[in-house]
Amino acid sequence: MTTKISSIVAEQLLPQKGGDSEKEHQLSEIKIAPYLNKLLERASSQPSEPLGKILASNEAREYIAKFSFFQNLAWEVVDARINNDYQRIMSFATNAISDGSGLHMNPQLSIPKHQKMTNIHRMPGGYLSDSGHQDILAGLRYLNYISLFSKNSPFDSFSDNLVPRIKEKFIQNKFAKLNPKRVIDLGCGIGHNTISLKNLYPHARVIGVDLGGAMLRYGYATARLLNQEVEFYQQNADYTEFPNQQFDLVTSFLLLHEIPKTSMKRIMSECARLLRPGGVMIHFDSGMFLDPQTPQAKVIRDIQALYNNEIFIVSPPLSTIEKMIEDSGMEPIIAKIGDENSLNNGLKRWQIVAGVKL
Ligand SMILES: C[S@@+](CC[C@H](N)C(=O)[O-])C[C@H]1O[C@@H](n2cnc3c(N)ncnc32)[C@H](O)[C@@H]1O
Repeated sequence: MTTKISSIVAEQLLPQKGGDSEKEHQLSEIKIAPYLNKLLERASSQPSEPLGKILASNEAREYIAKFSFFQNLAWEVVDARINNDYQRIMSFATNAISDGSGLHMNPQLSIPKHQKMTNIHRMPGGYLSDSGHQDILAGLRYLNYISLFSKNSPFDSFSDNLVPRIKEKFIQNKFAKLNPKRVIDLGCGIGHNTISLKNLYPHARVIGVDLGGAMLRYGYATARLLNQEVEFYQQNADYTEFPNQQFDLVTSFLLLHEIPKTSMKRIMSECARLLRPGGVMIHFDSGMFLDPQTPQAKVIRDIQALYNNEIFIVSPPLSTIEKMIEDSGMEPIIAKIGDENSLNNGLKRWQIVAGVKL
C-alpha cells in the first residue's frame, strides 16, 4: 500500500533520488538558532535602541553572515536534488501539461517592474524565470525549497493543512455559511493552496492567477496529477481580465508582503471589482511580516528585507490597509490567529486581512 504523501503535492513531481550528499550534510550542520537568539537577546534587552543600531551590531552581523551562507547553500542543495532527477520529473510534467485545457498562458504579459527588480528569497532566477514551452523549473525550486524544512511531508503540517486551518480558525467564525461557487486565488504561485481550496470546496470553480509561467505550469501539472480541476491563468492580479462580480471568494496566500503599497491598493480594488455583493476576500500572510509587534520581530523582518531580497516586506500599517479596503467598497475584517508568541517562525503568527463586498 502506498501512503499518500499530501493532497496538494504530486509525488511524481518531487525529486526521488537525493542530491549532493556533501552539501546536504553541510547544510544540516549549520546551526543558525544560537546566532539569532543572541541577536534577539540584544534587541529585547535594549528596547529603546534604534533599529539601525541593532542591525549594525556585531550580533546582527554574525547572524546575517550565517543566515546568508545558509540561504545560498539551501538553494544549491535544492538545485542538486532537482538536477539529479530532472528527466523523470519532466516526463511526468510534460505529460500532465499536454492537455493544457485549464492552463491559460500569456507570454506577452507585461510584468510589473516591482516583481522584476530582484529574486525574492534569493531564489535563483526568481519566481518569474521562464523559458516558455514546458518550463517548470521555478515551480520545482519553490516547492523543493519549502520541502527542505519539512519533516514528514513535502510541506509538513503548515502548508498541507493551511487552508483547512484558516477555515477552522477564521472562516467558520466569521462566515459560517460561506459556500462559494467561484473562487479565485491571486498570486497563487505553484497553486498548492489553490488546490487546497478545491479540496475544501469541491463543487466550486477554482482559479489561480500568477505572473510566473513556470510556477503556473508546475501548479497545473500538480492539479492534473492529483485529478483536480483547477484552472490557472497568467495574469496580473492588479488588473485581471475576469468580468465584474464573478466571484464569491477571492484569496491570496503570502502575496501582500511581497508587493508595494501601490500594488496592494490596486489589488484591493480589483478584489472588490471581482466579488459579487456579499462576496468575501481573504488575504493570508505572516503576522511578523505584515505587522511585527516587538523590536525582536522588527529586527527579523528587516533582516529579511535587507539580506533576503524581501524588498516590500516592510508593509504599510494595518490601519492603512484597512482604509484601502474601505475605499474599495468593502467592509474590512482584520484578524490575528495562530501562535501570538512565535518569533522564530513568522508563519506561526498569522495575519488575516479580509473584507466583505458591500
Ligand atoms: C510568496 S509567493 C506565494 C505563492 C503562493 N500563494 C503560496 O502560498 O506559496 C508570491 C507569488 O505572488 C506572485 N505575484 C506577485 N505579484 C503579482 C501580481 N501583481 N499578479 C500576480 N501574481 C503576483 C509571484 O509571482 C509569486 O508567485
